[in-house]
Amino acid sequence: MAQDRTLKIPPLAAQHGVHHPGNALALIREEQSHHVLLCSVLEAIADGLPGDVDVNLARYAVPLLTDSVQRHVSLQENCLFPVLRASPGLSGENVEDVLEQLAHEHAEDQSLALEIADTLTEYLEDRTALNAETVGYLLRCFFEGYRRHAAWERLVLDRFAQRLTAEDHAKLNALVCSLGPDAVLRGGTA
Ligand SMILES: [Fe+2]
Repeated sequence: MAQDRTLKIPPLAAQHGVHHPGNALALIREEQSHHVLLCSVLEAIADGLPGDVDVNLARYAVPLLTDSVQRHVSLQENCLFPVLRASPGLSGENVEDVLEQLAHEHAEDQSLALEIADTLTEYLEDRTALNAETVGYLLRCFFEGYRRHAAWERLVLDRFAQRLTAEDHAKLNALVCSLGPDAVLRGGTA
């Protein structure tokens, strides 16, 4: 029986219209869930190579690979990580080593995400401009790596976050607000 590769994806505009006033952790978790969805989208694109790439999935993936990945990194490295580092509730934990490793993975994810976004954009402009072997390799590197990253983050960051104090939460909310309305409100223009 033929395999059904249909992937149910929510409309981008709806996805980007959600916000969490006063709850920065919920915003950060929501951003993580977008990336788990992005991994499924990229896997479906990879499964369609070489001759059956879903153009709608490629269109859907590009803004997630650029804006959303960047937002994830910014929310974590500029907001959550400094609060975790300074939290009195986490003294005695090996916070710095964990955050260093996550930041290292972010750098790799960002660079790969931009490369994939460029490749998919070229493909959308010229359907013959796709080296299936290279693209398949890039896609799998990203979604396999990011799934590991997300699982590790859920495990350790959620455990750390449970020990944040009320003051830490207030600091985190203030830092997220300082990133500007795009980080909090997500525009809704995609
Ligand atoms: Fe992360």
